[in-house]
Amino acid sequence: MSLTPGNTPRRVLDRVSELVPMHAGFRVLDLGSGCGDALAYWALQHHIDGVGIELLPVRAECGRRLMKWFGVSVKILEADLSSAQWPDTDLIYCVATCFDSAMRRQIGVRLSGLRHGTVVALIGMGLPKGYDLVHHEPVRFAWGTPELRIGRRVSGHATLSP
Ligand SMILES: C[S@@+](CC[C@H](N)C(=O)[O-])C[C@H]1O[C@@H](n2cnc3c(N)ncnc32)[C@H](O)[C@@H]1O
Repeated sequence: MSLTPGNTPRRVLDRVSELVPMHAGFRVLDLGSGCGDALAYWALQHHIDGVGIELLPVRAECGRRLMKWFGVSVKILEADLSSAQWPDTDLIYCVATCFDSAMRRQIGVRLSGLRHGTVVALIGMGLPKGYDLVHHEPVRFAWGTPELRIGRRVSGHATLSP
């Protein structure tokens, strides 16, 4: 399953779900979701509830159709992730390799404002302030080997959910 250039290969998605165990109802937010392939895969494998934020209307629409077809609990929102509201979630996943440094900085600033305990899986960008590095390793894509970083927010306001 690979509909959008730059999509995460399955072995990387499996590695992320190994490092951040997923279960039914586990909430994942994908920043720059494309057609939502990653979310669809985790929804089929682990029954997560996903939200994807995607700028391009055609990819967002493709994602919505894909989720309907799969019958999974994943919403794809057509929006600019830098200004869109981000729902509270258990994991924020972001393949930042296609974002420029200004966008990565913006994502970092927003991540720094999230609640204590927020877990992130970032590919191709460093952890923002206030996050502890839980794990990092290079991961193999078709086009190169960016770094996967798993982080947990250790400062910030009190948790909204357990
Ligand atoms: C690498 S691809 C998506 C990969 C996807 N996360 C996965 O793992 O399957 C990155 C996506 O980010 C989208 N994008 C770029 N700028 C964006 C923005 N400002 N807001 C939301 N999405 C954006 C692109 O259109 C593209 O579909």
